[in-house]
Amino acid sequence: MEDWDEVEAVRAVDREDMLGVVASLPEQIEYWLQRREEVEEVARRLRSPIEVLVTGMGGSGAAGDLLEKLFEDEVKVPILVNKDYEPPASVRSGTLLIAISYSGNTEETLSTYLLARRRGAQAVCIASGGQLSLYAQQRGDPCFQVPGGLQPRASIGYQWTPAALLLHELRLLRSDLPTALQETAEVLRRQNEALGPQVPEAQNPAKQLARALQGKVPLIYGCYGPFAAVAKRAKNMFNENSKIQAFGDVFPELNHNTLQGWEGAPSQNASFAILLLRDPEEPPRIHQRVELSKAIFQQYATVHEVWAPDHPSPVVRAFAVAHQLDFVSVYLAILNGVDPTPVPLIQELKRHLGDWNGHA
Ligand code: PA5
Repeated sequence: MEDWDEVEAVRAVDREDMLGVVASLPEQIEYWLQRREEVEEVARRLRSPIEVLVTGMGGSGAAGDLLEKLFEDEVKVPILVNKDYEPPASVRSGTLLIAISYSGNTEETLSTYLLARRRGAQAVCIASGGQLSLYAQQRGDPCFQVPGGLQPRASIGYQWTPAALLLHELRLLRSDLPTALQETAEVLRRQNEALGPQVPEAQNPAKQLARALQGKVPLIYGCYGPFAAVAKRAKNMFNENSKIQAFGDVFPELNHNTLQGWEGAPSQNASFAILLLRDPEEPPRIHQRVELSKAIFQQYATVHEVWAPDHPSPVVRAFAVAHQLDFVSVYLAILNGVDPTPVPLIQELKRHLGDWNGHA
């Protein structure tokens, strides 16, 4: 598409306004800041957990990855992430299960919820409705109801924020999360102004990056911890918004395998583009690894760096990069003439699977 600086032309492809939904991320976060009393009330009803298990798939499951990776350095009990039909064996009465399903009807999430509850775990659900909300109601479990009508992957702010605030209210986190969330919303709003569809390509880094990625398979390398979750989410956004293959990886682990993979098949390398997710707060040894690796990668493929803003909070920095890449994935779809919103192959598979009748 050549005229993508024209709003009407963009609307003709982005028929359900995924760009508008991406731009709503700051409001999604503020939605729960305005409902902190509801979260406090739920926290008062819970016993202090010895572990937290976050279960959810796909777009809803990304909230678990971001909880684990953003808080692993400060949370007082382990956060485990589950993306399957069964909870791990450690789950018992001291576990707090946070079950997240935007539709409320994802069978893996329902299954894990039911099995964890049978083992005596406390549970909190996050859903826009569906069977998960009903199960929660029947069992007297708290359920944070999120606004419906969106794609799960585009409602990460609605789904991640109440879970994060709950950990804060349970006094499991050391940092001042509400302040970080307010600052996240402000940074994202500034990004909307810089990266939104109203900004022409010549001044818009997200549009420029989308154009550079056209025809390539993005390989998204997070510099460390929190950016592993961001890389994975970005990979999913390229899969579902742009409808292309993409892969996520993270330092330092990728130095021990992925790095070597560049050497053996040079004729394939032109199909890839590397996105290095960078953080001004990269620990020194990680910084050294990323810089040295970048010089090697540049011998084999185009490398694009996406930097987090300078900010003391990792929540702000990680969400800022995730939001930038949300824009890029949608612009890439638009550039390719693909509507970013529908996910027909995922829906078709769910239709073929039919109803799930386990454990009820
Ligand atoms: O983006 C999608 O549509 C999927 O990844 C879904 O999030 C996934 O299938 C799980 O559905 P839900 O988020 O409704 O639990």
